[in-house]
Amino acid sequence: MNAKTLPELSLFPLSAAVNNQGHLSLGGCDTTALAEEFGTPLYIFDEFTIRHKCRQFTAEFSRHYRDTLVIYASKAFLNKALAVIINQEGLGLDVVSGGELSIAHSIDFPLSKVYFHGNNKTPEELELALSWNVGRVVVDNFYELELLNRLAGEKGMRQDILLRITPGVDPHTHKYTTTGTLDSKFGFPLATGQAEKAVAQAASASHLNPVGLHFHLGSSIFELEPYQLAIELALHFAQRLTKKHNLKLNEFSIGGGFAVQYSLDSKPPDVAEYARAIGDRLNDLIPRLGLTYPRLIIEPGRGIIAQAGVALYKTGALKEIPGIRKYVCIDGGMSDNIRPALYGARYEALAANKASETEREVVTISGKLCESGDILIRDARLAPLSPGDIIAMPACGAYSIPMWSNYNAMPRPAIIMVNEGKAHLVRRRETYEDLTSLDKL
Ligand code: LLP
Repeated sequence: MNAKTLPELSLFPLSAAVNNQGHLSLGGCDTTALAEEFGTPLYIFDEFTIRHKCRQFTAEFSRHYRDTLVIYASKAFLNKALAVIINQEGLGLDVVSGGELSIAHSIDFPLSKVYFHGNNKTPEELELALSWNVGRVVVDNFYELELLNRLAGEKGMRQDILLRITPGVDPHTHKYTTTGTLDSKFGFPLATGQAEKAVAQAASASHLNPVGLHFHLGSSIFELEPYQLAIELALHFAQRLTKKHNLKLNEFSIGGGFAVQYSLDSKPPDVAEYARAIGDRLNDLIPRLGLTYPRLIIEPGRGIIAQAGVALYKTGALKEIPGIRKYVCIDGGMSDNIRPALYGARYEALAANKASETEREVVTISGKLCESGDILIRDARLAPLSPGDIIAMPACGAYSIPMWSNYNAMPRPAIIMVNEGKAHLVRRRETYEDLTSLDKL
């Protein structure tokens, strides 16, 4: 069975198949056997898909713009095993906290390829970044500009920075994940003159070395035009300030936000389309404005990791309200994936142990948390289910794990990596002992 006969398969990792027992397999491993061995809920990552996506972003963007560095936005998910792969694939990292930075440090990730983002980096986090020689700090506001200059001065250092500007472009995505509009907590707005003031101030800060500009419009952006418009605004700004304040644009980061496919009825542009739209606009404008070609930085998070990850659950209680709805309850829920409850995110699912069954019924997949809003998928079309079946949710690799909680004192699930018929644990399941291990009486 392939993606033609089973369209849902196209949402799963590239190695997904249905084996001759009619079970979903990932990375050559039977998912029902994985559920048995590692328990559920279980998060499975396909190494082949992760590596493929890293290479695809690098190849497509480099094809359309000569000097591109892909940095993985680790807020989408980072642990040691993933950081090792990202490093092996030659990507840099976007981190947004001392915590993410310390995960990178723990595996000796080359910190010169780390970009430190965030709208309220604490003095301790900035000190850590300086003492670990982080490549770039992406300065977000005037408070940070002064603070970082002072801290770098105390250490006798000159820190390379990018300035985060807010271009005032609406990418038409969920309001919780929109960042590039004027009324945003992130960045120096272009419209108010604050971006210009920041450039001037950074230029005269003796312990900062401004090397370029950054913007990030938002996340899950389905349109190409917002990127093009923001590039235009930022480059015109750069041209003006190159003359006025001697701005250096050695690097130009256009952020992340590339959308992925979560459900069969929504198809985002593919990586090549984003790359062409962005590369073409840069190649057109840069010479026209008399600028020298900067290094392009892109920061995909979801685009690299979403499709590689699958969540596996076991079904328990079934509740049918005649004429209204059939609930299928699973052993996880909003504690391991808050995205449906928080953003109304849509997912699809497949009965992993009944993957070749063609009969379908419409059910609502609900979690086991004590909240009526704990619904993972409303009106999913699945093979008829009974208690003990295994449900696989594709495209769960981005943002579910870092947003995990212990709500209802749910232990966090295990994470495994699969590849070429082998599976290994990359994070063990939490135990009940873990839940009280930080408490003091
Ligand atoms: N760069 C910056 C500065 C960002 O703030 C983000 C995401 C990215 C890159 C990566 O964006 P991506 O390529 O993954 O779309 N929790 C939300 C997403 C929040 C995104 C925050 N910033 C969700 O579950 O959809």
